[in-house]
Amino acid sequence: MNTPHQLDDCLSTTYHGKILNGDYSQALKDRVGACITHFHSLDQLGSPIIPYISAWQEDGTELWHEFCGRKLMELLHCRPTAVATCLRERLVVRYAYQSATSQHPASKEILCHHTLRSISQELREQVKRSGTIEAIYKIATSTNSSIWLKDQATVESFPAEGIFLSLGTLCLLSNEMEAEEILSQNHSALCQHRAKIGQLLQIKTRELHLAQLDIISRLAKAAELRDQCTGEHITKMSHYCATLGQAIGVKPELNDLLFHATPMHDVGKIGISDNILLKPGKLTSSEFQIMKRHTNIGAELLSGHSSRLLKVAKHIALAHHERWDGSGYPLGLRQREISLPGRITALCDVFEALTSPRPYKEAWPFDKAVKEIWHGKGNHFDPRLVDVFIKQLPTIKHIYHQKITPAQPFAALTN
Ligand SMILES: [Fe+2]
Ligand SMILES: [Fe+2]
Repeated sequence: MNTPHQLDDCLSTTYHGKILNGDYSQALKDRVGACITHFHSLDQLGSPIIPYISAWQEDGTELWHEFCGRKLMELLHCRPTAVATCLRERLVVRYAYQSATSQHPASKEILCHHTLRSISQELREQVKRSGTIEAIYKIATSTNSSIWLKDQATVESFPAEGIFLSLGTLCLLSNEMEAEEILSQNHSALCQHRAKIGQLLQIKTRELHLAQLDIISRLAKAAELRDQCTGEHITKMSHYCATLGQAIGVKPELNDLLFHATPMHDVGKIGISDNILLKPGKLTSSEFQIMKRHTNIGAELLSGHSSRLLKVAKHIALAHHERWDGSGYPLGLRQREISLPGRITALCDVFEALTSPRPYKEAWPFDKAVKEIWHGKGNHFDPRLVDVFIKQLPTIKHIYHQKITPAQPFAALTN
């Protein structure tokens, strides 16, 4: 422990505190004196760590230093009595680290000058509870730059006097923390860059999607030009299909695929010769066999691509002439062996064809076509879909009466 002689030595030049000269207990004075002697020796050795003893009264807001290493005053360019004020006024930011546990990674709490001032009392309570201080401060210096100091201290309480002592060391950490700041700036720049790339990717994906839709609509149009049905047929059919899809709970994203894929159901007709495709009269049995091939040709045209839209379109092209009872073509699939998009398209294709005029027939009245769909329940069409179709008749009728263009989106027509 210190001797009076040692204490006198260091007090002669470095003591600017209150306790040793104030009306406090001997025990507190002895403790402060011992620490000053010890910290003074450390400071005299030229150690890179800066020892300090700060103190505060439990019921007061003032904090003062009983001792602080010379280097701190040099760094702050201030007198010993101004150290506490200087640190408080020039504190830019405070980092407090929480060490990693098995469940949580290490975390960092950053408090800026403004926040620190507003919660200083709360922080002091925290320090009293934990008995330690472990934080890093960024301090603005008078030379327009800043320094980083790591503070590690233990807190001792003297309840009889209501005094708290913080016995600690400060360590200059500027190089490490500046590197961390640069890293953090780079990280935020990287995040911004990543966000920009994400946005760009979204735009490009959207452009690609639109280009895909455009190509598909041109393909459907090419098939249409060879057939006797009109553009309105495939457009209205898409709306009928999406109405059924929505009503049976197909997710919006998938229903959108259904809406855009149905126009391609007859794309395979590109591969059927004109003398069969455009024949005004009834097809012979062998001609009908050839005509049936438009389903396979369409599926082949649309296969081999990873696009979900083309995959749905392929299913529709292949299955839109299948029938619920298994008497359809090309595969004679039955019931749920037929894909849902295929079953929906089969129903809507027939309904739209019945209600549209063709060179060889008049358009059927709406009610007559609905009856025909009803008669097809359980043999030609999925019975559940027929029920849904009947329930959706107000919307179906609304679409039926609309003059629509191929570009018109599903939501615009049904809302
Ligand atoms: Fe067809
Ligand atoms: Fe059709």
